[in-house]
Amino acid sequence: MTDKATLTIGDKSYDLPILKGSTGPDVVDVRKFYGDSDHFTFDPAFTSTASCESKITYIDGDAGILLHRGYPIGQLAEESSFLEVCHLLLNGELPTADEFAKFEHNITYHTMLHAQFDSFFQGFRRDAHPMAVMTGAVGALSAFYADSLNVDDPKQREISAHRLIAKMPTIAARAFQYSQGRPFVTPRNELSYSENFLRMCFSVPAEDWVPNPILTRAMDRIFILHADHEQNASTSTVRLAGSSGAHPFACIAAGIACLWGPSHGGANQEALEMLEEIGTVENIPAYVQGVKDRKYKLMGFGHRVYKNFDPRAKVMQKTCYEVLEQLGINDPLLHVAMELEKVALSDPYFIDRKLYPNIDFYSGITLRAMGFPKEMFTVLFALARTVGWISQWKEMFEDPSRKIGRPRQLYTGATQRDYVPVDKRG
Ligand code: ACO
Repeated sequence: MTDKATLTIGDKSYDLPILKGSTGPDVVDVRKFYGDSDHFTFDPAFTSTASCESKITYIDGDAGILLHRGYPIGQLAEESSFLEVCHLLLNGELPTADEFAKFEHNITYHTMLHAQFDSFFQGFRRDAHPMAVMTGAVGALSAFYADSLNVDDPKQREISAHRLIAKMPTIAARAFQYSQGRPFVTPRNELSYSENFLRMCFSVPAEDWVPNPILTRAMDRIFILHADHEQNASTSTVRLAGSSGAHPFACIAAGIACLWGPSHGGANQEALEMLEEIGTVENIPAYVQGVKDRKYKLMGFGHRVYKNFDPRAKVMQKTCYEVLEQLGINDPLLHVAMELEKVALSDPYFIDRKLYPNIDFYSGITLRAMGFPKEMFTVLFALARTVGWISQWKEMFEDPSRKIGRPRQLYTGATQRDYVPVDKRG
């Protein structure tokens, strides 16, 4: 099998090395192509471009496979815990019992925020979208940790990663409590990561908070399902921001901003709003017709990479059934979602375009049953994805060939011309 591709432009040919991964498609290495040929390659939205080498997450979109460090997402969601997955993503291996105890202790003892940090929240309107609050608050966090500004120091990178994983639940819970007009709740070190987060979100001073193991497990599983997803838009944003050597907290704020959009992490809120708009099973055919008439998209459906079932969607659907059943909730929106999925999966419009439910299709119903308002859905996604972002950021710094990211362009604007004074224009 050849280890190079040859590209011919006019009467010149260029040899391009082919690089092999451990699995998945090989890549054509075009790094020297511009220098050799004076041509760029053109790939808006990076549909065919591998932007980096990575050992963290592998996706086979046609087969519906998602692996973290080689482990299938279904196994991790069923058998692991979010903190264990954090260790796996960050460090490459599942921890031994000793390693896990140390890691858990490190994360647990970094959950508090500087007391002065709380004043940031007061500056936001109570009705601000919590993703706006998250973007601002996480960016502001970089102002508090001048002791870890040296991104070239592995120890400082590790401290930043631990601080981020530890403090995101505290910040997210504060964004939620603030929007509800309730007092902030201090983290408790004896609780697990997910239990602590739920307590910080739902505990009020007027009564004792009682943990619900079903909800804790569901929360943990939802965090696992969102932990990393290869070089998606927000992760690429974090890598690009980080490539300049910026502070990691500022880079994560950039990732949060990108995640907010409805084509990415914002889709879970929009998917629930869509189900609410459809309202009843009888309205599904008319709604689907509107999708086919291109008036709007079916939110929670389709994916840039998965042209099969999103493997996370299957686990999410199961979690959704479990939560609703165990809480004794009969949510009419679940019936709408199930019927909508059935209708869409048997309709040629969706079959031909390989449009399947993605993780967002069932997450909204689950999170609503757990007591979260829809504005919080993307915040929870950001909380969980922080470990993926920071693992990818860390990996970038461990790569000796790291360079500042700098895409090029196909310029189609005006060519050089002379400035015209205002009285001579028109
Ligand atoms: N509903 C209806 N039609 C769709 C949908 C959808 N949800 N998604 C894609 N299509 C159609 C497109 O109109 C296009 O049709 P055409 O070829 O006739 O023009 C075809 O399917 C291919 O779609 P693209 O837009 O080229 O696919 P792309 O990979 O660029 O988009 C995306 C992926 C953005 C996720 C898209 O499917 C979408 O907008 N889905 C809804 C939003 C959503 O659920 N996002 C969550 C993504 S998962 C995540 O971030 C966790």
